[in-house]
This record gives sequence, structure tokens and C-alpha cells, in this order.
Amino acid sequence: MTTTDRTLDKDTPPFHLAGAFAPVREERTDVELDVVGEIPADLRGTYVRNGPNPRTGWSPAWFAAEGMLHGVRLEDGRARWYKNRWIAGAYANTSVVRHAGRILALVEAHRPVEVTADLETVGPHDFGGALGRAMTAHPKICPRTGELLFFSQAPSRPHLTYYRADAAGRVVHRAALDVPAMTFMHDFAITERYVLFYVLPVLLGDVRSPVPLLWDDGFPARFGVLPRDGGDEDMRWFDVAPCTISHTVNAFEEGGTIVLDAVRAPRIMTPHALHRFTFDLSTGRAAETELDPRFLDFPRVHPAVVGARHRRAYTTELCDFGPDGGFSRTVARQHDLDTGAAVVHDFGDGAMPGEAVVAARPGSAAEDDAWVILFVHRRDGSSTDLVILDPSRFASPPVARVRLPCRVPLGLHGEWLPDAAA
Ligand SMILES: [Fe+2]
Repeated sequence: MTTTDRTLDKDTPPFHLAGAFAPVREERTDVELDVVGEIPADLRGTYVRNGPNPRTGWSPAWFAAEGMLHGVRLEDGRARWYKNRWIAGAYANTSVVRHAGRILALVEAHRPVEVTADLETVGPHDFGGALGRAMTAHPKICPRTGELLFFSQAPSRPHLTYYRADAAGRVVHRAALDVPAMTFMHDFAITERYVLFYVLPVLLGDVRSPVPLLWDDGFPARFGVLPRDGGDEDMRWFDVAPCTISHTVNAFEEGGTIVLDAVRAPRIMTPHALHRFTFDLSTGRAAETELDPRFLDFPRVHPAVVGARHRRAYTTELCDFGPDGGFSRTVARQHDLDTGAAVVHDFGDGAMPGEAVVAARPGSAAEDDAWVILFVHRRDGSSTDLVILDPSRFASPPVARVRLPCRVPLGLHGEWLPDAAA
């Protein structure tokens, strides 16, 4: 290596500020976007995706930045607009949920920030004063009851609080749960009658460090199963092998057993794989098997099967995860969890698909009678498309590809907000 090479290395920005991750510097609105293929006429709504995007162009770590929403409006077979807007206030940079008519931008360290359908910030939302200082970025909407189920964590007791809001958005149940510490619990799960919490040996360290997580070998790994309307005295704990969970695929009840599919790693900062846990409510025992050994994340299922038995799941496979936490090649995977088969959609050299979300066809809850929507970014950061895939022929060319007028940085979680359910 020459001296010049070393200088270049020293000046190379961290992965989260370069290439497809590099933040954008302006808000913009563009109308009537170019489309290749045909957008299904009954796909009416807005796709919105959240992600960190530092206003200054610099941040110490990927997650430590203001959030920015990117929205694409689909209507009458056309892509009506693209907008991007910073989320004002807290760093609500992780995900988006719409419940009881409110669109909320979420990050687990703060309260939600409500935004309009045009992505403009309204302000913090605390469920009429019911919410504490923070809320998970992965609440669950029960497709059966319309309830929003979620939790918050705090450095002081109670470290974990569970909330259930009714379909109108009112918190109707709240339970303080007795756990020994504030752990890294990024996600949880629901079934028809239960909620599941992951209390694992990953404790929170210095929040100013790039990855403020500490692995604690002495901390027991346990999953808690709580009836939806239960309190701490109703919690049942299941011991599992030490691990960490990044995201939930889904969970459901099967006889006297609860089945949980989740993205699991044996420690922090190690590749995650797809696992199935089972919790036997009669024996109190847990078991687990690996469903897919590849390093994947960002799992999604059809919104109608959340908490119920699912067959399909979608993930993003990280093909070249590096020691700095960066990656530069991803493919989209469709899993058949009944057969164990997976179908890959590889968008080709230089293309990086992000999280895939499932958009239900209006009036249908069938897992394959739907569309899969995702951003596909160019690795060099030159452009981004919104891509629509048909789940019944996942590896086939896209149904439609919307050419965005500007690049979108690789980000975190998105959501399809259909008009019919507004
Ligand atoms: Fe997440």
C-alpha cells in the first residue's frame, strides 16, 4: 500500500455515510413519476419508508441521526408523487405505523412523532398522556381486533411496560412488568391471545457509542409469554439458549404451543439467521430450530396473518456483512415456511433491495393474493426505484418499477398505507 492509499483510507467515510447509505441534503416533491411496467389499478395508497438522515450530512453512527420519511403515492395505476421530509423533533428514524387514523414515525428511545399523509410533522404523540418516555419501533396491529399492542422500556423500574390500545387508539390496558434490567429488546410478538417479550443477555451500554450494547454472559436468556390482558403475575417465562433477536417474523398458537419465527443471532454483532422457537404451555419448555442459516433480516409477513399462522415470509439477505456493520450486496428472499423452500429475487449487480413490505389486495387476506413493495437502491448511490413484485411468481420480473426522481438512502423500515384502511 502506498502513502497515498493510506491517506485515502483515513479519509474514507464510515459505511453509513457513503455509497447507497449516504444521506440526502434536501427535501423535495416530484409529481407524475416514470413507471416501467404496470402499477395494479387497485393498489391505492402510499408507501412510506423511514431511515436515519443527518441534517448536517454527518453522524457518529447509522442510528444516531434525524429521521427522514420517503413516500411514494400510488393511485389509478400511476405513481402520483414522491416526497421526502425530515421528521422534526426527536430522532424518530426507525419505522412507520398507522393506527386509528394517525401516522406515527417511531424510534425505540423516544415517543412517536405524528406526521400527516403528506409526511409533514405534526408533533409528539403520547396516547393522551398514557405513554411513558418511549415506545418500541415495532408495535403490532392485530388484524382481528384492530388493536395496537406495544411496549416501552426505561432505565429505571419498571424497565418494561406493556400497552394495549383499542382500535380507536385509546390505551385500555397497561402493565408494568418485572424484569431485572433494561435489555436490548428491539421487537416483540403477538398471537391471538398472548404477547411475547424477549429478555436476552444484551444490555444497554453507553448510548453515545456507535453500538451501545453489551453482552452479559451472566444474564439469563428468557422469553416471557403474557396474556394480552394480563399483568406481571400472569407472565410465564421460558429459558432459552443465550441469543439476541433483531426482528420478529411472526408468532401464532398451535394447540397448547406458541410458535415464534424470528431473526436470531448467538451474540451481538454476529450474523443473524431465521429460527423457529416453540413454547409448550403445558410443560413450560422451549425448543428451537434453524429455518434458514443465511444472514438475513428485515422480515415481513402479510398484515392479515400477524398473530396467526403464516406460510410466507419475506427477508432481505445481507450477502457480504462486514466487521464494521456495513454491507454492499443484498437480495430479497421469499420463504415458504411449510416446505422450508426459499425463492430469491436478485436484482443484479449493483442493486440493493431494502425491506420488502406486503400490500394486501383489497378484499383479500390470502398471502399470495397481494403485492410485495420495496425500494431497490443502486450500490453506488446513483438512483433508487420503487419495485412491485407478485408473490405468486416472486423471482419473475417486477410487475412495475417506479423510477424515483432522486436517490433514496438505504434505510430501515417501511409501510404500505392503503387508502381503504385509512
Ligand atoms: Fe427494526
